[in-house]
Formats: sequence, C-alpha cells, structure tokens
Amino acid sequence: MRFPDITIAIDGYSSTGKSTFARLIAEHFDFLYLDSGAMYRGVTLFAQEQGLIAPDNTIDPALEKALAGLDLHFAPGTVLYMGERNIEKQIRSMEVSSQVSPIAAVPYVRHYVDERLHAFAAAGRVVMDGRDIGTTVFPDAEIKIFMTARPEVRAQRRFDELVSKGESPVFEEVLRNLQERDYIDSHRETSPLRRAEDSFELNNSEMSLTEEIAWVEGLIRGKFGLLNAPEEV
Ligand code: CDP
Repeated sequence: MRFPDITIAIDGYSSTGKSTFARLIAEHFDFLYLDSGAMYRGVTLFAQEQGLIAPDNTIDPALEKALAGLDLHFAPGTVLYMGERNIEKQIRSMEVSSQVSPIAAVPYVRHYVDERLHAFAAAGRVVMDGRDIGTTVFPDAEIKIFMTARPEVRAQRRFDELVSKGESPVFEEVLRNLQERDYIDSHRETSPLRRAEDSFELNNSEMSLTEEIAWVEGLIRGKFGLLNAPEEV
C-alpha cells in the first residue's frame, strides 16, 4: 500500500526519539523528512558565531536583521547546510544545545524558521518533527503524534548519541539540559510546546523502533481505511 500524500506532524519533549522515528517513517513510506529543531540549532550556531548571543543568553537585537542574510537549507537528504558549509555535526554539540531554547523562544526567529519550513514542505508528503508542528506550523496535518518517554530514558538516549559522535558528555549535565529545555519550550509565550488536542500520544519508553513503525502504520491505515469505507460499500 502506498500511503496518501499527507503531512505527518511529530511533536514532543527533547530526546523522545522524534527525529529517529520521523526518519524511519520517511524511509519506510517514502516521505520527505524535515527536522525543524535542526533549523533552530542552525540559527543558534549562527548567533554564536556572529557574537550575537552572550554566555548569559542575552540576545543582541541585531540578530533580527542578520537573519535576512542567513541561508540555512537541507542538502539532499537531511543534512543541514549554512550556505556552502555542512553544519550537521556542530549543531548537535552541547554548546549549541545549551543556548538553543532561548533562541527558539524569540518570535522573529520562529518566524524565520516557519517561513522556511513551509517553503521546504510545499511539495507535500512530508513528515516533520519539532515542538509546535501540529499546533502552529501545520495545524491541518492529517496525522499528529505527540511523543513522550521517561526523563531518564531520554537522557540516556541523548548521552549515548553524544558518545557515539565522539563527545564526552556528563550524564547529569545532559539530563539537566533536557529538563531546562523542556521547561523553556513549554513556558515560552510564542508557540509553546503543548499537545495538540487531535494528536495521538506515543510513549516509547519501552518500545522498539519496529514496534513504533507498526504503531504508526496501524494509525495511518486506520485513519484512511475509515475515511475510504463508505466508498467501498
Ligand atoms: O533533538 P532534541 O529533541 O533534543 O531537540 P531538537 O528537536 O533538535 O530541537 C532543539 C530545540 O529547538 C528545542 O529544545 C526547542 O527549544 C527548539 N525547537 C522549537 O522551539 N520548535 C521546534 N519546532 C523545534 C525545535
């Protein structure tokens, strides 16, 4: 069965495995995957490199104008580029993680990212993950998923990911960073992280990736099977 050309929005807390899940959906069902968090991470790296964010997270208002000259895009596949430069590794560092949530709380930054996400998704058949995809960016997405998992499970996943990338993280620091980001993301004024009423919750603390794929396949089949039912009678 080829699934219909729909938009799938996946939201949830940090390190719930949204991007792994979204990537798998894209591969399995032939969708375009867009990682909105990577865009916020890209803006954060840019602000750091331009000296527009201080160590205490004070953001220089000059960032707003500077964004006009920032070219962030995904190369074929899901690798983020700043102009000609592949910034995929840098945007996943703890240095960027530690300042991304204050940056993502700024309304003009959200506007910058939303505009690009809409342009990238124009062709349809997209799976996108983030914090506000089902509530703000694509409120009409046909399938909305809200992912959760226990905090220790999430911190362990992020810790393992950083280790596999050659970093030497401290577990408590990783856990603290997740909790801080969750707090800022849920309490900011513009597009806070919250569960869309029409979303399906997926708690994957104890689930394998194979089980997650089976779950979403059932969800999509169920939804479109039901919609098609009257025509089949
Ligand atoms: O991978 P992880 O779940 O840790 O985070 P991410 O998806 O890479 O997103 C990094 C940060 O960007 C989040 O902590 C949010 O502050 C912000 N973000 C957001 O505000 N809205 C989105 N749609 C996606 C990310």
